[in-house]
Amino acid sequence: MLACPTPVGVTFNPRAADPLFKNFHRAIRAVLALGLMLGASSVLAASVVTIIPKPQQMSVSDGHFVLDARTRIRAPHDKRGIEIANFLRAQILQQNGIRLRDSATGDDHRIVLQIDPAITGDEAYRLQITTQGIRITAAQDRGLFWGVQSLRQLLPLKSAAQVELPLVDIHDQPAFGYRGTMLDVSRHFYPVAFVKKQLDLLSYYKINTFHWHLTDDQGWRIEIKKYPRLTQVGAWRTEADGRRYGGFYTQAQIRDVVDYARQRNIMIIPEIEMPGHSTAALAAYPELSCTRQPLKVSTTWGVLKDIYCVGDDSTFTFLQNVIDEVIVLFPSPYVHIGGDEVPKDRWKVCASCQALMHAQGLKDEEGLQSYFIKRMHRYLESRGKTLIGWDEILEGGADKTAVIEVWRGDAEGNKALANGNRIINASPYYLDTAMAKLGTATMYRLDPAASFAAHRDQVLGAEAPLWSEYADPLNAETRLYPRLQAFAESLWTAGQRDDANYADFQRRLQAHYPQLDKLRVAYGAAESNVVDYTVALNAQRNGWQLRARHGLDGISNHYTVNGGEPDARSPGFLDSVDIRRPGIVKVAPYRDGRAYDHPQTFTLIGQLALGKPIRLGAPPKAPYNVATDQALLDGVLGGTDAEGGAWLGWQGTDMDATIDLGQPTSIHSIDARFLQDSESWILLPKRVLFSVSDDGQHWTTWHDGKLTADPEDIHASVRTVHFANPRSAKARYVRIDAVRYGALPPQHPGVGHEAWLFADEILIH
Ligand code: ACM
Ligand code: ZN
Repeated sequence: MLACPTPVGVTFNPRAADPLFKNFHRAIRAVLALGLMLGASSVLAASVVTIIPKPQQMSVSDGHFVLDARTRIRAPHDKRGIEIANFLRAQILQQNGIRLRDSATGDDHRIVLQIDPAITGDEAYRLQITTQGIRITAAQDRGLFWGVQSLRQLLPLKSAAQVELPLVDIHDQPAFGYRGTMLDVSRHFYPVAFVKKQLDLLSYYKINTFHWHLTDDQGWRIEIKKYPRLTQVGAWRTEADGRRYGGFYTQAQIRDVVDYARQRNIMIIPEIEMPGHSTAALAAYPELSCTRQPLKVSTTWGVLKDIYCVGDDSTFTFLQNVIDEVIVLFPSPYVHIGGDEVPKDRWKVCASCQALMHAQGLKDEEGLQSYFIKRMHRYLESRGKTLIGWDEILEGGADKTAVIEVWRGDAEGNKALANGNRIINASPYYLDTAMAKLGTATMYRLDPAASFAAHRDQVLGAEAPLWSEYADPLNAETRLYPRLQAFAESLWTAGQRDDANYADFQRRLQAHYPQLDKLRVAYGAAESNVVDYTVALNAQRNGWQLRARHGLDGISNHYTVNGGEPDARSPGFLDSVDIRRPGIVKVAPYRDGRAYDHPQTFTLIGQLALGKPIRLGAPPKAPYNVATDQALLDGVLGGTDAEGGAWLGWQGTDMDATIDLGQPTSIHSIDARFLQDSESWILLPKRVLFSVSDDGQHWTTWHDGKLTADPEDIHASVRTVHFANPRSAKARYVRIDAVRYGALPPQHPGVGHEAWLFADEILIH
């Protein structure tokens, strides 16, 4: 998510979706529609039908169709018709162990797939099941395929000689034509098998677009034959611990995945980022940057300053050659060129960029960005493709034939619409958003067009992106599901987002979990993390307790206390476990014997002040005040994650903390730990003082030191201020004063706002 950091203290945050259901009239219509829908059918029978997304119109009758080895299938005799029939045949064989026969003669006991031009809508279909047979009709094969996916959701989850299907008559079509999910495979790489598994699931829920974010600062993931260094160099990075990390897709793999998606009614849109988020490409070909200096594939997140040089024509030659290979692989009418988060620092000081700016009569570097995007736009058009870009491509002006993917909120969407562009709304659906802020219910209730009523027909639909700074193949599914099921239904059945429908969705969702378990989908909890771990001092203050709060059933926790990596055979616990000794504790959740997430590490330190009374001059400020004051003396060290729970934060006040050791105590050393995380507006204090006293009135200063914070350093780090007492003198009271940095300086995006001061532990030995 640090593709756009969520700075502490920033009030505008497009990732914190507005959870309120805004469209009252639509809610009323939905209630009326629900009444009509069920009116003609048996309510009891309807409850056995658990299709997600819920069909627009459905009646259910008592009785059933028996599917068995006698059942035949007949489909249109064209390539796609045969393919769809084969898909259904394979799925039924796999799930029920029943082999459908091809249709020969006789009319009964058939599954018939048939094109019917009388049905209107690209993706519309009708599914009728009677005691005699099953009929799926649609105007186009896209609709036929969705009919097959609905039929699959009616099949029981068992192998048997015969299975029963409820009698339904479904008329169905989606409210929004663009129902997308994005996967960022640059920050973390996802193998082909993982991508295909997700395509299976997206298709099962009728999500019809997969946006593949293939390039970024941290890795270039698509083979380009003309530029082999893009993957030889750009696909690999050396992590801080020396590990080589990376991967890419060959063109053969891409073709295979694109075809796999096509068979499942999914269009894949490739994204090749430009002109920013291009460090991996520039590491491979530094001559494409303004400075032409060597660069490394980035191992950290954020918005990086080196971008393609717009002033050098060879940049365009390169990008056009790349596009030429990309469009051969992806039949989609769209190509996404990113365009987001483009710092102009390099262009401002690059002679050729400045020369171009003046030659073109452009006012500033925003004009250069617009020049860049328009030039790529024309190139794509010449190749018969439509450009998609993030909403920054409007800066400096964009052609109205571009499709704008809106991510920075409704204001950007309205700018695009006023300019005449079509939009895809992604702002409210960022799946890297914390579950507490964007749970399944919120995903369900959001209306992607709520703020764009005047231009409803320019809203193609919505997309839920998964940025992968903190997601990878091990834990990504916990972020995707069940939020994507809610998203899929919300886009399919616009207008039915009220409480009653959400309750009904939850009921149907329960029925899907056994199927997801069978497919080994590591889905998450609906409204919270799978598990939250905390460590606190125990009541006797002679050790700790490690606790797990579960959001999902069936999780067991396994841990180590010696710094080793836990696995499913490490000691386990359900809710809590006592930890007697200081050391490094690692804990991870498991389900059905397999790891559900990476281990979380806690560093526990014994010390003289463990659990002693502490008085704070100024209280820490919300939301960084949830840990108790005792957090500073609990022997639990925080990592560099400001949200990690170990840290207390102050803003606008200094920190002063007075500790009472209870009696005069020999002190060898004092340490205080502070966080620096400039992207989250957290800077080290300017000055730190340690003082001691015997009576709490008269103080002796032992340490008074200055610190320098670098607001331009985007790496989060912990700084320990250490004082070693050469004489090991005694004292009863210890006082820590930390003087805050103050206002953020001009070179910081939060200029003028107060920096935060974060502390997590005071250690006395
Ligand atoms: C984005 O999140 N930077 C599009
Ligand atoms: Zn340049």
